[in-house]
Amino acid sequence: MIGSRLSLAATALLGLAAAQPAAPPTSPAMTPRTFTPLVCYIFGELVSPWWLQKCAPHLNLVVIDLRSAAEYAESHIPGSISLPFDPISAWSVMGPGDLLLEMPPSADVMATLGAAGVSNPSPATKIVLVNGVGVPAFPQAASPRVATTLKYAGISEGRVAVLDGGFPGWASESLPVTTVVPTPVPKTYTATEDRSFLVDINYVKANLNKRNKGIVLLDGRDEAVYNGSVMEEWALKPGHIPSALNLPGKNFWNEDGSWKSSLEILVQLRSVVGYSVGRTYGQIIVYCGVGGYASTLYFTLTRILGFDNVVMYDGSAQEWSKYYDMEL
Ligand SMILES: *[C@@H]1O[C@H](CO)[C@@H](O)[C@H](O)[C@H]1NC(C)=O
Repeated sequence: MIGSRLSLAATALLGLAAAQPAAPPTSPAMTPRTFTPLVCYIFGELVSPWWLQKCAPHLNLVVIDLRSAAEYAESHIPGSISLPFDPISAWSVMGPGDLLLEMPPSADVMATLGAAGVSNPSPATKIVLVNGVGVPAFPQAASPRVATTLKYAGISEGRVAVLDGGFPGWASESLPVTTVVPTPVPKTYTATEDRSFLVDINYVKANLNKRNKGIVLLDGRDEAVYNGSVMEEWALKPGHIPSALNLPGKNFWNEDGSWKSSLEILVQLRSVVGYSVGRTYGQIIVYCGVGGYASTLYFTLTRILGFDNVVMYDGSAQEWSKYYDMEL
């Protein structure tokens, strides 16, 4: 993949050189920069502030700010579009039986994206998600949650990245900010809904206590919630789904809201699940309270660590605790 990107860039550079030999000399400052820097072809799961600053002008890219409307109004990345992440918003709805934070109809997500200037399938837009940073780490979880929502709405994962460190990371590098609100040019967005990575309560019920068969259930909530000493408002009973292990999503970020290295995260995962656990592990089922940290685990395990088989129980503890016992 990188090889083909390199040859693409090399071709672009050669084309530029071939078109210019007869041109009179101009000062470097006067030469319009028409080619795309090579580094801009490398679009991973996390992008740094300087990458975004350097590459945004060269790419078909939409930057989506997930912070509150008030935070966006105060200051944001130039050109970024405000689509706040709230439990009930463009990104999530109330589900059956009043389940908070469920996937909205995919057609609604597609309409939102089209209105924000995201086109699909062609020309395919890349998306960079921008979150806030806080304690508890719910603002950080907004980006992985929206990333899983975009996957569900049919956008290829390779076209979605998270700005490492969120808006505070950008601001701390003294990059430009603005209060100017851009007007997006609406585009057409069509895709096929993808539920392949989502599992329901019956699937989870059928796969408890299957570690010896290579299936493990991972709870992304904080330790005290997992062990039942603290109860969150959305679960009816304290504790966790029977046989689940605990890998708190909040531990994936540094204090400044930037992501820990993939090696540090792999060590965390292995200390919980076992030291032989690698990318081809049978299956990891992730869940949390309502779906934010479950999405954090899903994004981190699949995109940052590259695990093959991870599925997400979106109903999470809020749904499970309505029907079944929790374990302490
Ligand atoms: C539950 O977890 C919290 C936070 O780690 C800890 O302080 C507490 O002692 C634990 N309680 C039990 C019963 O294990």
